[in-house]
Amino acid sequence: MNFGVEIKGLGSASPSKIVCNEDLEQFLETSSEWIKTRTGISERRVCDPSKQENGLSLSLEAAKKALGNFAPEKIDLIIVATSTPDFLYPSTACRLQEALKAKNAVAFDLSAACSGFVFGLVNAAQFLQNGTYKNALIVGVDIHSRFLDWTDRSTSILFGDAAGAVFIERSDSEKNQLLAFNLRSDGSGGDDLSLKCVGGEYQAGKIEKPLEAVFMNGKKIYSFAIKTIPDLIAEVAHSAKISTDEIDYLICHQANQRILDSIAEKLNWPKEKCLSNISKYGNTSAASIPLAWDEFAETLPKECTLALAGFGAGLTWGSVIWKWKAF
Ligand code: ACO
Repeated sequence: MNFGVEIKGLGSASPSKIVCNEDLEQFLETSSEWIKTRTGISERRVCDPSKQENGLSLSLEAAKKALGNFAPEKIDLIIVATSTPDFLYPSTACRLQEALKAKNAVAFDLSAACSGFVFGLVNAAQFLQNGTYKNALIVGVDIHSRFLDWTDRSTSILFGDAAGAVFIERSDSEKNQLLAFNLRSDGSGGDDLSLKCVGGEYQAGKIEKPLEAVFMNGKKIYSFAIKTIPDLIAEVAHSAKISTDEIDYLICHQANQRILDSIAEKLNWPKEKCLSNISKYGNTSAASIPLAWDEFAETLPKECTLALAGFGAGLTWGSVIWKWKAF
């Protein structure tokens, strides 16, 4: 590693429309109490297409907040982590580049579902640490409301729409904030959480249904998360040459409050160490970590050690140890 990376800005955005558990009770065989106790979720935000809310609009709002006064034409790299883009192509990253007028940035999307932000952050950091680029904007955004079967209570209660962004810059190596990372994939678990593209056949000549709704084997994903994430955090802490007790806070993918509590228990941590805003947003997939990071940034000590951890479809999972310094 020749250079370090430093955080320079955080931002997030969520749609204005709030759908609370009681709204779902109106058309689903469920109860607000069941959702709250089994997942920790009270409400979620969903895009309103009549207000032009979509993946690009939320990404743009979050990115502008993360960039602050930084001149967009000086951005070198834009990575957008998303599995629910407005367009399969052009990428959301290219559309964001145009919307920001970041004409000198190379821009591409990255697909790793709910691990996408962690994968994107680590990827971007490599370009900075090896000296290729001076800065990078990483956005996590997902609009699952468009890809849910709203009558399927096993998935529709869980997800919300949002975007989160982080802006990082190259620094001297002694100021490096990304201390260690750990990325994993296991395609054998692919059928447990999927969103399938259904193309038209050549003979048929038309596509009636370009995407199916999200399918999830909730129990398997739950077991996978509570088994792998504590081990992953122990491994990444070891790589950073610290103990798990030296991690001040975990910003984990917000999928289920019970998953966060189980991770804390397995690591012998107080529950409060796993930061949580799931009750307000539900599972916002690639957005959940930068959204929580942005929301909790002001309450973090000026300097502390963070672990970030994502997990999701693929299957994919990954974590980083980040030496946080308020900017
Ligand atoms: N309302 C009321 N009852 C329900 C609901 C609901 N919304 N959903 C399921 N139930 C019922 C079931 O039918 C079942 O009833 P039964 O006992 O009579 O058969 C009972 O509640 C228990 O169902 P389970 O599926 O066992 O419920 P569980 O406690 O496992 O909770 C949940 C389900 C919330 C989905 C949980 O498994 C979970 O959070 N899984 C992880 C999801 C996740 O982490 N996803 C992250 C990845 S996202 C990405 O990458 C895109």
